[in-house]
This record gives sequence, structure tokens and C-alpha cells, in this order.
Amino acid sequence: MARPIIIDTDPGQDDAIAILVALASPELDVRGITTVAGNVPQPLVTTNTLRLVELAKRTDVPVYRGCSRPIVRKLNTAEYVHGPTGIDGTDLPEPAIEPALGHGVDFIIDTCLAAADGEITICPLGPLTNIGTAIVKEPTIIPKIREIVMMGGGFREGGNTTPVAEFNIYVDPHAARIVFDSGVPMTVMPLDVTHKALVLPEHVERLRALGTPAGDASAGMLGFYVRFDIERYGFEGGPLHDPCTIAYLVAPDLFRGETVAVTVEIDSELTIGQTIADWWGMTDADPQSTVMLDVDAEAFMDLVIERIGRL
Ligand code: RIB
Ligand code: CA
Repeated sequence: MARPIIIDTDPGQDDAIAILVALASPELDVRGITTVAGNVPQPLVTTNTLRLVELAKRTDVPVYRGCSRPIVRKLNTAEYVHGPTGIDGTDLPEPAIEPALGHGVDFIIDTCLAAADGEITICPLGPLTNIGTAIVKEPTIIPKIREIVMMGGGFREGGNTTPVAEFNIYVDPHAARIVFDSGVPMTVMPLDVTHKALVLPEHVERLRALGTPAGDASAGMLGFYVRFDIERYGFEGGPLHDPCTIAYLVAPDLFRGETVAVTVEIDSELTIGQTIADWWGMTDADPQSTVMLDVDAEAFMDLVIERIGRL
């Protein structure tokens, strides 16, 4: 029985790879994809998502437009990383399909309320605005959620947007606080693990060698996207953040982590968006988060390339 999931996303080249891998994986039943302003604004994140479901030949999966700004703060975007289109490195055509009717937050709520307890997995790949808003609007969805498997946060690795805050959390720290405090079981792919999941030039070449539209688009997007982190960090490759969530759902044994209490700083202008783990049980907070710290990077990239090769 395929695992029912909702993907929440702000494409973003790494989101794009995650979406393609998910749509190519029979282990996953992608009930729908909701979009959130993040890497680039609405409606571009929605248009990009429509382009990607068309590329994957999976227009059976509905795409719902979600929130256009964080709950409290103004929107900060990341064209400096992803380019003005959000998926620079490829020139996918304007989508022929339209978003599904209704708001992304309402799709999350309605899908969860129609499910059995613990049935739905939610995979946020961007700011947590839609998830936090859904929980505030309809708290009865909480027992319906089996697990939130998200990309975000930075612990011992620090941040990538401020010295202590990772982009997805920094953009909407208030939504992140709501989600982490909700009691839903969390599996977190922070920079601590995604900075070990590096796309090397040989991986880009293997994608291009697939000789398919999905392989070509993936090679082009990653070829563009990795430059920023390579220049900043001096890595031999660029971190493939968002696909870590999908790879975990398909092959959890590729990852290792620790289960701890995590919360989010929302009051200090200096450290807002910092994810804070109680590694040594110093508080009475519930250890609700499995924070991934290590990955079998080669097997991870093999899985990504193999799944994209199926499209
Ligand atoms: O910090 C990396 C995260 O921010 C990724 O999800 C990337 O797509 C951006 O949204
Ligand atoms: Ca993202």
C-alpha cells in the first residue's frame, strides 16, 4: 500500500528534484502538492509546480496554490540562489494545466479530516506557512497526521540565511514555532545532514546521460543551482536539501539522527528563526523531533538519479 503524502513546496531547483523523485516513486501516493511563497513569490512557485507535474507526466496529481506571505513577517525570497524564475537552469514551457480550485491550506485540512488517524504524511519543502496556518485554522487535523517530514533548520551546522537561521525557518519562524509545538511527530532534514548530501559534477553528468526531458531538466537545474553553495562554503558539490525528505520516505535507512525536543526562536531580532534542540534533555519539553545528522550520500544520489530515470 503506497504511503499517502502531501508535498508543500516553494520551487526552487531542489524542490523540483524532490517533486520529480516523489512522482516517480511507487512507494508514495502523492495526494496533492500545495505551494507556498519562499524561494520566489506566488504565483511563480505555483506555475513552477505545474511545470514539474507536466514534466513528470503526472498531471493526475492536483496542485493547489497556498499562502503568499508568512504569517507575521514580510516575505523574504531567494532569487540570489535560485535565479529570477526560481528554477533557473532549465526553460520548461508555460504549463497547459491550471491549479486545482481551492486554497492549499484548505486542501491540507480537507485531506487530513477525510483520513484516518495517523494516515497522512506531510512533506514541507519550504517555509511552514501553509502547515502552521492549517493547524491554527483546524487543530483537529493534528491526530490525522502520521508524521511531518520536512527540510529545514540548522543545528550544529548553523544557518544559511543568518549565522543561526536556515532559510525555510527564517522566512516564517512563527509558522515553524506553531508546527514544532503542535505535538505532531517531526522528522527534520536540517543543514547538518543536507550539507552532506552533495551533488557532484559526476551526478549532473549522470542525469544528463539519461537522455530524457526529466534528466536534462534536472541536470540543467542542478548545474545552475549548486554554484551558490560551492562558492560560499567551498564544498566539492552543492547540497541537495529537499530531496532528502523524499529519499527518507522511500529508503529511511539511508539516514541517521537523534530524537530530541526542538523549538524555534521568534523573539530575538539577532537569532529569530534559529532551531534549538535540547540534545541533553535539560528541559521537560517533549522530544517530538527526529533530527537527521548523517546520510549515505552516494546511495542517496544513486536513488535520486535512478528515480528520475524512471520518468
Ligand atoms: O535552506 C534550504 C531550503 O530553502 C530549501 O528548501 C530550498 O529550496 C529553500 O527553500
Ligand atoms: Ca524549498
